[in-house]
Amino acid sequence: MTNKNAEQSTTNSNEILPILYWVLGSIWAPITLPWIIYQMLGTLHMKYKRTNLNSKVVLITGASSGLGEALAHAFYAAGCRVILAARRKNELERVKKDLLESHQTVPTHVPIILPLDLTDLPSLPKNIETVLGICSQIDILINNGGITSRGNVLNTDLGVYEKLMLVNYFGQVCLTKAVLPSMVERKSGHIVLISSVQGLIGIPNRSAYAASKHAIQAFCDSLRAEVAEHNVEVTVVSPGYIKTELSLNALTESGSKYGRMDENTAKGYSAEYVAEQIVRAVVEKKNEVIIAPPTARIAVYLRRLLPSVYFWIMNKRAKNEV
Ligand SMILES: NC(=O)c1ccc[n+]([C@@H]2O[C@H](COP(=O)([O-])OP(=O)(O)OC[C@H]3O[C@@H](n4cnc5c(N)ncnc54)[C@H](OP(=O)(O)O)[C@@H]3O)[C@@H](O)[C@H]2O)c1
Ligand SMILES: *[C@@H]1O[C@H](CO)[C@@H](O)[C@H](O)[C@H]1NC(C)=O
Repeated sequence: MTNKNAEQSTTNSNEILPILYWVLGSIWAPITLPWIIYQMLGTLHMKYKRTNLNSKVVLITGASSGLGEALAHAFYAAGCRVILAARRKNELERVKKDLLESHQTVPTHVPIILPLDLTDLPSLPKNIETVLGICSQIDILINNGGITSRGNVLNTDLGVYEKLMLVNYFGQVCLTKAVLPSMVERKSGHIVLISSVQGLIGIPNRSAYAASKHAIQAFCDSLRAEVAEHNVEVTVVSPGYIKTELSLNALTESGSKYGRMDENTAKGYSAEYVAEQIVRAVVEKKNEVIIAPPTARIAVYLRRLLPSVYFWIMNKRAKNEV
């Protein structure tokens, strides 16, 4: 290229650039400005709506660790009266202590501890009666307690299927049924069920878990329609991997403790992030919410829209090829 040509092209770009900026500006400003304003209004609106949570009674199962613990912090900080339920009383005491020591700048309510075992179905209604005796009402029930499993159908004991169904499904159904009459009577209440992306798609080695979470999804859809006329809300939450103790507590094929932190779990969302998204979903009275990265979302849509592609990918995955 000669010098003259080079000069020529600089002049050209000097002329073109302002035009380009002008074109981009005139296209983008009308799009981005309203968008920024919309986002700011949304944030303000969310802050305002969050005040609705003030002094609400929120019962959270699985509050002794992971997502349940993070939910306890999120709802406590929003001014709720939280009831912490799980089996390990000492861990619930720890969470209560942590709550009392944190969030000292906002008016709060002393958390209540409710030791319960989700597999002990006959004991669950009594637990709800106890809470209703103390708080007179439960505004939000968050069915979060759960366990997972590792292993294929061929080698997994039937007992593992029973255990997962008890904790992840029947326990939740039982608590929901115990709370529901008081909500219907008051014509107000919100039931939240923590499902999983695996409540929407089944993956190899997780049949027991995926089946229990699929059951939750179907239960929610039926329930939501039934209780809408009583002004009771139902939200089903489907998170992707979250960095919690879930895989450590998973059951192996024989029902023993798996005890390993899986790579996917370790690389997952923080429990605090997911808890914040759940608070938003509750405030906005969402029917369902998927909190997952694009790959998991694509898998969910593939299963619905292009099932044969999904099956092909899962066959590969079962052979550890993807
Ligand atoms: N971590 C993930 O990648 C992920 C992804 C999607 C969905 N989820 C769902 O998120 C929920 C919370 O799990 P997490 O990830 O926070 O795992 P986690 O840290 O293992 O917490 C599980 C909680 O469930 C409670 N729990 C287990 N068995 C119980 C029983 N028989 N009775 C009463 N409570 C019981 C545990 O408390 P005790 O041991 O004290 O009873 C614990 O508080 C589960 O429903 C899980 O399926 C997790
Ligand atoms: C499934 O579990 C078996 C052991 O039960 C293991 O050998 C295999 O690698 C696992 N497959 C996947 C895809 O995780």
